[in-house]
Parts: sequence; structure tokens; C-alpha cells
Amino acid sequence: MELKGKHVVLGVTGGIAAYKAAELVRLLVKQGAEVQVAMTEGASHFVTATTFQALSGRPVFTDQWDARMPNAMAHIDLSRQADLILVAPASADFLARIAHGLADDLLTTMVLARDCPLLVAPAMNRQMWENPATRRNAAQLLADGVGLLGPASGEQACGEVGAGRMLEPEEILDEVLTFFTPKVLAGKKLLLTAGPTFEAIDPVRGITNLSSGRMGYALARAARQAGAEVTLVSGPVALPTPAGVERIDVRSALDMQAAVMARAGEADIFIAVAAVADYRVAKAAEHKLKKDLGGVPPIELVENPDILAGVAALKNGPFCVGFAAESQNLEAYAQAKRRKKNIPLIVGNLIQDGFGGDDNRLVLVDDDGVHPLAPASKSTLARQLIEHIANLTGGN
Ligand code: C5P
Repeated sequence: MELKGKHVVLGVTGGIAAYKAAELVRLLVKQGAEVQVAMTEGASHFVTATTFQALSGRPVFTDQWDARMPNAMAHIDLSRQADLILVAPASADFLARIAHGLADDLLTTMVLARDCPLLVAPAMNRQMWENPATRRNAAQLLADGVGLLGPASGEQACGEVGAGRMLEPEEILDEVLTFFTPKVLAGKKLLLTAGPTFEAIDPVRGITNLSSGRMGYALARAARQAGAEVTLVSGPVALPTPAGVERIDVRSALDMQAAVMARAGEADIFIAVAAVADYRVAKAAEHKLKKDLGGVPPIELVENPDILAGVAALKNGPFCVGFAAESQNLEAYAQAKRRKKNIPLIVGNLIQDGFGGDDNRLVLVDDDGVHPLAPASKSTLARQLIEHIANLTGGN
């Protein structure tokens, strides 16, 4: 419920991507937002007002002369209630009209009369997007302080391929969440590790840890939404890269260490979330080990470097945060680990609570003591942890 209490006016203009706006309403409502849909006449050729009414739980407005507004000023009333006006999809014609301050229907009048920010998600054929007129209009809107979301490139409804596709509803939701998140880490460079490492035994076998990477990915996303420049060094996981995050894929602990050390000097904050394998195979076999050679293959293990301790030992290094996944004595073990690695903040979690799932329970241990966080989803906990880190590092 990251958008609880937020009023979003969702403008829908005429284009085939209007059908995706229905999903967007559902996602916004699921996050707790109050969504008021206003659609253009053109949009109603693609989706009906009934669809949006059912999903938003509110009557939809299309007409500036709508008799439901007692003062006959729908454009003023609707835009005054809004914390944000979001137009998705925004057609080429709509961009042209608002770039020139036209107000010839409810949506454009509302946009002109607004006193809240405006985000638009363009959606059109690639030629229309590339047309110099549209380029001029988009540039004008940017200069006017309007936020442009996308468009993305790819296959289009008309069968052509190129830039002009509307961002997917989940991506637009992400941008809306980013818009509403206080920028407590603005200007900070944040580096983090996530996921497991994989230590090869031979070309098809290896040693690894159980780690979905979800907590690290949720933190990367929350940090970027809080305004940080985020680099995510990731072991092998099956997760999409959070929007706006630079991701570097690695496999082994040594690869992860190299990727981290190459960037740690630049970082303001380092969060080690990865479940790094404690040991690697001294010499991985070049070819697949054969079973029929007789006997059990001897596998010699050597210790992996402690990446977090290495970063914590850097002179003028980043503010370091570690994770302690424990199955018992969480606070005592977390405290001991914090001292041993010489880091200012450690996040303890009980492995039976968090592994693989969406929920987790965390305790934060720093110089001031132990701060338990109420059990919540990984994205909520990630946001709370980012706020805690911002407070400790003097964020605003
Ligand atoms: O020592 P332990 O593995 O329990 O410590 C966990 C913390 O240290 C985590 O933050 C983990 O990402 C980090 N770590 C690391 N390199 C290792 C082992 C752990 O960065 N080789």
C-alpha cells in the first residue's frame, strides 16, 4: 500500500494502448491510491468508461460540461483533488495540444488548470514519435517541467518495430512510486550485492547458496526510488532489473569481489546482501567429471574472500551495511558479526522467515542498539531500511 492517501487523476487518451490503462488502474488501486479516471472522447473508442469505473470504484469523467459537478467546473475540481495527474496513454495529438496550452476538452482543460505535477506516458506509432513536430512538442513539455515516461521500443500494434510503445503498466507504476518517494538519498552513489554466488566444480556442477535475491533487488529499487544512483552486483537470480538501476551480473565470489572492489571507492554506501559461498573449489575441472572413473572425486575447497570486510577496511570507504541471516540467537549473532566485520549497521533476519518468500522480518543493529522492524513485505522493509541508512548517513 505504498500509495495510500494519494490522489491520482489518470487521463486516458485515444490509442490502442488504452487497454493497458485498465491494468494500470488496478495496480494503482492495489497500492492504495485513490484513482479518478478522466478519458477523452477518442479513448472511449478503445475502452469503455464502465471498465474504468469498475476498476477505480469511481465514476469516470469525459465531458467538461459534466452535470455531476454542481459548480460546472469539473476541470478545476478534479485537478485540485489530485496529487498527480498521470496521462497514459498520451497520444501524439494530446501531447501537441498540451504543449501549446490548448484546452478544448476536459482532460486538456484540467491539465492547463492544474497545480500539481504532470506525468505523461506517450504511446504512438514510431513515425509519429519521430516526427519533428512530436519531437518539438516533447521537448517543449520537458522544458515546461512535465515528466515523460518512456516511450519504450519494440513491436507495435501496427506491426512496425521502433520507439513509441507505451511503457508496461508495472513500469509506469514504478515511475509513480518513484515520484512519490521522498528523495532521502539524492546525490548518493549506492553499491550493493545480491543473490547467491555459484562456485564451479566442473562445467555443469557447482556449490551455491539458497538465495532468491529478492531482498537485495527490493533494496536496489527502494534506493533508486529514494534518489540514489544504484549499481547492483548480482549473482545468478531469476529477477528483472529494477528500473533505473545499473546491474552487473557475476557468478562466483571472486567475480563479485572484483566487480565490487572496482566500484567501492566511488560509492557513498555499500550494502552487502549477497549470500556469498564461504568456499570455492580450489581448481574447477575443465571437463565434466565422469562417474565411471571409479571412486568419489576429491574436491578441495579454499576459503572465499569476505567482500564486505574488504570494503569495510578501505580508507575513506563507503558507509557499509551487512546482512546476518541466522536460524537462532538473531540479535546476539548480528551484534557479534557487526563488530567482527567492523561495520556501522547490520541487518539481521531469521532465515525461516524470509527465504524465498515475499515477506521478511528484520532487526537493525547499529551504534544506538537494536531496532526491530514489524514483519512486512520485502519492499516495505526495503523502504524502511533505506530511510534508516539515510538518517545514519546524514541524508535529508
Ligand atoms: O559472515 P557472514 O557470511 O555470515 O556475513 C554475512 C554478510 O557478509 C552479508 O552482508 C554478506 O553479503 C557479506 N559477505 C560478503 N562476502 C563473503 C561472505 C559474506 O560480503 N564472503
